[in-house]
Amino acid sequence: MACFVVMLPLLLALVKAQVPHWGPCTEPATQPAFNLKQVFMGRWFEIAKLPARFEKGRCIESNFTLKVDGTAQVVSSEILKGELRKIGGTVIAEEPKNPAKLGIIFSHVLPYATYWILSTDYVNSALVYSCIDVLRLFHVDFAWILSRTRSLPASAITQAREVFTSNNIDVSHMVLSSQQGCDKDMDINPKAIKPKATTMFL
Ligand SMILES: *[C@@H]1O[C@H](CO)[C@@H](O)[C@H](O)[C@H]1NC(C)=O
Repeated sequence: MACFVVMLPLLLALVKAQVPHWGPCTEPATQPAFNLKQVFMGRWFEIAKLPARFEKGRCIESNFTLKVDGTAQVVSSEILKGELRKIGGTVIAEEPKNPAKLGIIFSHVLPYATYWILSTDYVNSALVYSCIDVLRLFHVDFAWILSRTRSLPASAITQAREVFTSNNIDVSHMVLSSQQGCDKDMDINPKAIKPKATTMFL
């Protein structure tokens, strides 16, 4: 119960900017035989997403790496108001039987986030889904289209949206993420790197 009281304001803050749906989280199909440690590692750029309160910047990307102790880490970054912001997290395999059902722990203060890989070919794109169940009364979901490069052909985006839709995930509010002028900004302003643990985004 104490945990719930602490979590509630966080959940409500997350929920505010989203479109909540009635009922518990849905169970989408995930990538069969998902291989996190050998082939999913490296850099993924955010191409499109359901609008999320904690992601306001541009040039959003995630870099998955394997540590010597065998744990997978992720560093996500965005450029917000001319500053490069980063947040690091630990990637958890939720279910040994289903390796595509990942979770990410960003810090002690933020709620654990599910991070399910619905589909990926590892070399071009990845479709990621996350859902927060609030007392099984309603849920708030998040969806991302990720790419190995800063852009994807429109046909690939359309196809990706269809995968979400066929899993009963409403992506009608999905928006494109800005990946323009990103490499240039980082070269110009390398001193602006300010880690901010309070900024949560995937
Ligand atoms: C990804 O993370 C690894 C390990 O920290 C680092 O060596 C590499 O430079 C990072 N890549 C990018 C593009 O940030």
